[in-house]
Amino acid sequence: MQCPHYDAGRCHSCTLLEIDYPTQVLDKERHVAELLDPVSDGTTWLPAVSSVESGFRNKAKMVVSGTVAEPVLGILDRAGHGVDLTDCGLYPEALQASFGPLAAFVTRANLEPYQVSGTGKRAQQRGELKYLLVTLSPDGELMVRFVLRSQEAIARIRKHLAWLQAELPALAVASANIQPAHAAVLEGDLEIPLTERATLPMRIDDITLDLRPQSFFQTNTAVATELYRQARSWVDEVDPGSLWDLYCGVGGFALHCAAPGRAVTGIEISAEAVAAASGTVERLRGDGQADRFRDVTFAAGDATAFAVGPQGPDLPEMVIVNPPRRGIGADLAHWLETSGIDHVLYSSCNATTLAKDLAAMPTLRPVRARLLDMFPQTSHYEVLVLLERA
Ligand SMILES: C[S@@+](CC[C@H](N)C(=O)[O-])C[C@H]1O[C@@H](n2cnc3c(N)ncnc32)[C@H](O)[C@@H]1O
Repeated sequence: MQCPHYDAGRCHSCTLLEIDYPTQVLDKERHVAELLDPVSDGTTWLPAVSSVESGFRNKAKMVVSGTVAEPVLGILDRAGHGVDLTDCGLYPEALQASFGPLAAFVTRANLEPYQVSGTGKRAQQRGELKYLLVTLSPDGELMVRFVLRSQEAIARIRKHLAWLQAELPALAVASANIQPAHAAVLEGDLEIPLTERATLPMRIDDITLDLRPQSFFQTNTAVATELYRQARSWVDEVDPGSLWDLYCGVGGFALHCAAPGRAVTGIEISAEAVAAASGTVERLRGDGQADRFRDVTFAAGDATAFAVGPQGPDLPEMVIVNPPRRGIGADLAHWLETSGIDHVLYSSCNATTLAKDLAAMPTLRPVRARLLDMFPQTSHYEVLVLLERA
């Protein structure tokens, strides 16, 4: 992929840009094989799933800088100056095309880009709009979230929203997230809906997941499709009567792996994601698939507390875990190791923490593994591992 911003030294996000794509994938396969080497004796590695090299990101996190009259959507460079990344090659055309109307909306609704001058106690905060978070669905619809310092601009956003919807007919869901703190944390707790529709349908094979603001979704929809297909195929081979999906987000694994007669429980810390997953399962039951989704439930909570919890619910026959980059951690790994559960499916976006977690579960042996390149041009990737009790 050619990138003028990389060539000019303005953006360094794509750290592998100078390496041809097939070599990137080979290097990642080598990297994960080396990390898992201590635990992967006898593991069958399936061929890696590659991605398209550009235009694969379904979401954009744009820092808003510049001025009301000339907003800049992109990143801040090391000196804190805005870099316009509206033509970033990682975004599909439909995402790129949304940035022009969104920038014009910033001007129209008088949304002053947030900025901080000075440091420490002398730091002065100005402006309201911190980020624009934009997600593109497989059917071309958009969810836009305005991350704001306060609610000061909400009335103006509401007033001009019809204009934005006319300029950007794909806009299906809009909301404002209030993040008052000057902190590295991207978003705050308060989400204010701005449109009637609150969910973005993300169609993946025969399951359409409902995505809501404040819910995670896999970055690369095409590779996520392969991830859920692979998971479903391995789960169906084991054919458990009961299955937990820990760190379930909006239910991608749980819903793809649901089957008649299989009890599936999804656990997730984000209440919004759980509400979205619960809504999806109700819709799917009503769509003539009552049998497959009859016994699928979602609950909000901490994955480790749910599993390890004092009264410990009945043990499932199989567990899926798909944690954030930090991994599942010592407590959940220890619980799984001593649980007696024979099959675990671990989907990881950080092979270093995966290797650490697997080392803590020596009797759960990786029998199958597959790398899925969710993040071309960077050193990140997803890896799915089927563990079986020795
Ligand atoms: C990598 S995402 C996976 C989401 C989902 N499995 C999917 O395929 O979209 C990790 C998820 O874990 C959730 N999470 C983070 N900490 C958690 C915790 N302590 N307990 C349960 N879920 C947690 C996040 O909100 C996020 O949805």
